[in-house]
Amino acid sequence: MFFISILLQLPLSAVLALWSVSYKPHAMCVFERSSVDFTCSFDYPYRYTFKTAKWFKPRNYQKQDRSQEGIFVYHSNPADTDQLYKDRTAYANQDKNCSLRLHNVSKSDIGKYFFRFETNLEKFTGLGGINLDVAVLPFRVTVTSQNVNGHIHEGDSVKLRCSTETCTPQQELFAWYKNQLLLPQATEHVLQISSVSHNDFGNYSCGLKNSRPTLADEILLDVRYSPKNVEITILTSGKIEQGNSLTLICKSNANPAVTNYTWFKIRDAHISSIGFDCEFSIKAASQKDDGQYFCTAKNDMGSQNSTIITLNVKVPTSNGHILLTATAVFFFVIAVLLVLFLIIRRKQRTQKKLHTEQAPAVTVTEDIYENLRQSPKSEKSHTNLIYADLMLPSSNSERPLSNTRDVVIYSLLSYKE
Ligand SMILES: *[C@@H]1O[C@H](CO)[C@@H](O)[C@H](O)[C@H]1NC(C)=O
Ligand SMILES: *[C@@H]1O[C@H](CO)[C@@H](O)[C@H](O)[C@H]1NC(C)=O
Ligand SMILES: *[C@@H]1O[C@H](CO)[C@@H](O)[C@H](O)[C@H]1NC(C)=O
Ligand SMILES: *[C@@H]1O[C@H](CO)[C@@H](O)[C@H](O)[C@H]1NC(C)=O
Repeated sequence: MFFISILLQLPLSAVLALWSVSYKPHAMCVFERSSVDFTCSFDYPYRYTFKTAKWFKPRNYQKQDRSQEGIFVYHSNPADTDQLYKDRTAYANQDKNCSLRLHNVSKSDIGKYFFRFETNLEKFTGLGGINLDVAVLPFRVTVTSQNVNGHIHEGDSVKLRCSTETCTPQQELFAWYKNQLLLPQATEHVLQISSVSHNDFGNYSCGLKNSRPTLADEILLDVRYSPKNVEITILTSGKIEQGNSLTLICKSNANPAVTNYTWFKIRDAHISSIGFDCEFSIKAASQKDDGQYFCTAKNDMGSQNSTIITLNVKVPTSNGHILLTATAVFFFVIAVLLVLFLIIRRKQRTQKKLHTEQAPAVTVTEDIYENLRQSPKSEKSHTNLIYADLMLPSSNSERPLSNTRDVVIYSLLSYKE
């Protein structure tokens, strides 16, 4: 009865326990100088007594199948721990917990690690072990595509991998850059493009998220594609006018570069090829050059036509003549008007001058005339005048008489009458 109750109190697993060691994970990649946790648990039938625990790493030249112990990374007896690992390990040291933490990992730690324990009667080593790899920066980008040795073409499936010379710590968050711009969706160590397009052409880099110093050197994703965006640009010294030189340039985006260009001219519904260079030049444009033009750009991947442009050469000379004539006529009319105006003004001035010069004479004449007219008005005055005249020389007065006085006297005489 007592036995049964003890058996019931024991966990079922303990009763059924077998010899075992389990590791997690089985393989890992960590950065140089970081710490790594080997998660481990072990078990054995309850009737045995646990005595010794050890982690060992077979030397490179030894069998990596747990049959050869190599060096002790951890040993219950500290004296047996290898010098290389003495101060770099932390063992869980709990019941059936064999987890081990290893600090300051370096390249020399690369290898397989096994846990082994000993009881009073039996010894057991966990199968498989843990494979430790150490990532040594810098990162580098490697490109793989379905075309193993060929070029990458549009539509191909492409994988860009961010890795170091040794391995890639996949548990980390990554950042990808295309032409130095972050690709926000890409956060894993592999960037997969299922159907690559010409837009994916560019320089790629990768690194740990939020850690610029880990950035890899750029690698060119050299996607090959037939010419795209074929278009014509026109270079001209001035306007598209008769006599000016014109250069039509066939521009496109292609990888590899365009090898063959063809220029076409459409006139009166007839297409003719007119050139095989990247540029088509017209030294002195004339209306003969009117028409529609397009070019074709071709590389190894294919070809594409540009959009059609229409050339309409203007004739600036006739227009110029009309303008020149109009201007000349305008100035001529202005000049004529000016001359007329000046002539009229001059005429007006001379007339006025004559008028002012003659006016006093006329007045004088009129006055005289009036005087004269007045004088014959009465015949008596004439008599008086004569009389006065007669009077003047007869004056024997001592005072001399001027002519004026004469007149005065005459007037007086005249009025006296
Ligand atoms: C084993 O020990 C490690 C380190 O002390 C600890 O982190 C872990 O939780 C333990 N595992 C179990 C199952 O108790
Ligand atoms: C880590 O190990 C390297 C040798 O691999 C040593 O030079 C360095 O001082 C160690 N760092 C620490 C913090 O112990
Ligand atoms: C890629 O990088 C190379 C070398 O730095 C540079 O010459 C080239 O222009 C870059 N390509 C693009 C698309 O940025
Ligand atoms: C393309 O140009 C090359 C010379 O640049 C010439 O040998 C070849 O025949 C041309 N191909 C076509 C299809 O015109």
